[in-house]
Amino acid sequence: MNQRLFEKIRDLKAQRRAVILAHNYQSADVQDVADFCGDSLGLSIQASKTDAETIVFCGVLFMAETAKVLCPDKMVLLPDRRAGCPMADMITAEQLRGLKAQHPDALVVCYVNSTAEVKAESDYCCTSANAVAVVQSLPRDRQIIFVPDQHLGRFVEQQAGRALILWPGYCTTHVQITEDDVLQVKQRYSDAVVMAHPECSEPVKELADAVLSTGQMIKFVQESPAKRFVVATEVGMIHPLKKARPDAEFLPAGTRGICPNMKKITLEKVQASLENLQFQIEVPAEVRLKAAKSLQRMVEIKPGG
Ligand code: 13P
Ligand code: SF4
Repeated sequence: MNQRLFEKIRDLKAQRRAVILAHNYQSADVQDVADFCGDSLGLSIQASKTDAETIVFCGVLFMAETAKVLCPDKMVLLPDRRAGCPMADMITAEQLRGLKAQHPDALVVCYVNSTAEVKAESDYCCTSANAVAVVQSLPRDRQIIFVPDQHLGRFVEQQAGRALILWPGYCTTHVQITEDDVLQVKQRYSDAVVMAHPECSEPVKELADAVLSTGQMIKFVQESPAKRFVVATEVGMIHPLKKARPDAEFLPAGTRGICPNMKKITLEKVQASLENLQFQIEVPAEVRLKAAKSLQRMVEIKPGG
């Protein structure tokens, strides 16, 4: 930990009346300088209720855009403007309009990992923590379009017991975690409990003891008597898990679970962000007003309820 940089960020944060939000996949030092760490749902809720004037979002573009839609009067900063999410760019608003035209009576649920324009075309938004609850809350006689993640979509189909119209999007990081990666750790440590993110492929999720959002993983290990866990998600997750259960061992499933976009944010960029007020996220008013409706539903629907 760079103590000098850490202190500089703390000073700038006070000057700017800012709050720093960091996703669970951020590097350990960025998580440690943040005021709040969490999953997409938890951070959206934090953003919607903060009284800070400026939000520094240590995550990827769709997360910062979500914060801007939920708090249009605040300045939202993303410390690296190139930190995008490839999955969010796998469907455009135009493509979604095409899909809606093919299924004119269907309701549209979009995963929060999507652009603000796609959210504006959707009826409901969800995160991996409440996707099942959002779908379960919808009338059973309506068809549902679910975009963009096919893997989260299949998990929701299975859990909610209803078919969805899926889009073939996927997370370029999670699909690199293979069945073999999990089996290799299990071969060495047969007692290890396997946690997988719903963005993982179906064979990986079939090997899992629990399929959880990143925030749910923290709660799960706090409540579990197990001493060893296999973590089938982005490696940044190991840091908050270790903090939650210092006595337990966390083993990553393979070595490829690294999101290069999440890792674009560094302490130096957080400092520059606060110093130069960069990079300010803007969402055009017409998109924002429509996206706010689907996002408001997302923050209101609790996981499992
Ligand atoms: P969570 O909402 O579970 O933190 O996931 C966000 C994400 O980008 C997963 O790849
Ligand atoms: Fe997007 Fe996957 Fe990175 Fe999450 S881990 S931000 S879904 S690319």
